Amino acid sequence: MINILSIESSCDDTSAAVIRDGLLLSNVTASQSVHEEFGGVVPELASRAHQQNIVPVVDAALRRAGVDKRELSAIAFTRGPGLLGSLLVGTSFAKGLALSLNIPLIEVNHLQGHVMAHFVHPADSMIAANPKLQGIEFRHPAFPFLCLLVSGGNSQIVLVDNIKREASKDIKREASNDIKREASNNIKREASNNIKREASNNIKREAQTQNHTPSMTILGQTIDDAAGEAFDKCAKVLGLPYPGGPWVDKLAQLGDATRYPLAKPNIPGYDYSFSGLKTSFLYSLRDQMRAEGVETIDELAAKVPNLREDYCAALQTTVIDILMRKLKRAASDLGICQVALAGGVSANSGLRAAMLDYARRYHWQAFIPPFSFTTDNAAMIAQAAYYKFLDADFCPIDAVPYAKTTI
Ligand code: KG4
Repeated sequence: MINILSIESSCDDTSAAVIRDGLLLSNVTASQSVHEEFGGVVPELASRAHQQNIVPVVDAALRRAGVDKRELSAIAFTRGPGLLGSLLVGTSFAKGLALSLNIPLIEVNHLQGHVMAHFVHPADSMIAANPKLQGIEFRHPAFPFLCLLVSGGNSQIVLVDNIKREASKDIKREASNDIKREASNNIKREASNNIKREASNNIKREAQTQNHTPSMTILGQTIDDAAGEAFDKCAKVLGLPYPGGPWVDKLAQLGDATRYPLAKPNIPGYDYSFSGLKTSFLYSLRDQMRAEGVETIDELAAKVPNLREDYCAALQTTVIDILMRKLKRAASDLGICQVALAGGVSANSGLRAAMLDYARRYHWQAFIPPFSFTTDNAAMIAQAAYYKFLDADFCPIDAVPYAKTTI
């Protein structure tokens, strides 16, 4: 039996989960309200709160799973990207526990964790104890699939596959070099054919080698702000609390998206850019203020009916349109119809509806994880760690967290 405890502490949520043989037994998260009054996450406060939360959260995760720490096979932790002080708390705790229990340590990339949320499958006991998980069909995309990963710090289109494509490309190159070398040595045609046959067998064999951990390739990503950041920053300009994304979502449902048209930056390839949209949002509001002769957003909202709702609707519609157009282009260029959504912004009701709408129009199979696995959580880290355990992909005890990285 493989029991893994996972810890996620990359930003402002302290989370721990237990997975047994690939089935999730528990997932406990303590969110930090301490940041609300500051309009954003304060790194120093976040790491202190993690220190306070980590023992009770881990304890609750083990208790709910009915697993004693002596039954654990490995400890997994989020190594990055994230806030260094926050990551240090989870990393140090994981190392201490792994050392004391003399079991392996598994590091997980937070972004890969978000993609792996699609493979989380709670055990029946967990579903029975959690009404929010009841009635959900836990199915996962078939390989290869595209994942739109949208969070507070990232917006990426990721190609997820179960074949080591890069490795197989290297092998092909190496094999063809070998053939060329042999040919230049004037080896007989038959020998060369043998080499070719052997090389092509090797390529086939290697291409079929499947790691349990899928391979992930970033096809495009934001060159400036992330989608969640655009929501949060524009919400702050409107005087909405932090994090602004859920507020934008709520107010957008009451607004008219056509009232205040916003810029839609278009950059080449599959990359995204949201900074132009943010500036256009700011300038549009500033022009409204000038036109109404007011100095603050509250004064403007008092004069213009439905101001916040209409701006939220315009912002949300524009962000979704930018995200979905590139995703659609990538899907049709690659001929892929399995399309998934991941990350905190995938909680957005408009984006979820857009995914389903595109799925209907373009014959995609769309995958949207349940709410509890979209924001930062240790369940997704546990799932990624389970596959790494099967691949015997352990990390050294001196591994240090990293603030920035890509998939
Ligand atoms: O993935 P996540 O929990 O944390 C990061 O790893 O970044 O994502 C947090 C982001 C925040 O920007 C938050 O405003 C956004 O997800 N978010 C939303 C919604 N719920 C959370 N954005 C739009 N609509 C929502 N309903």
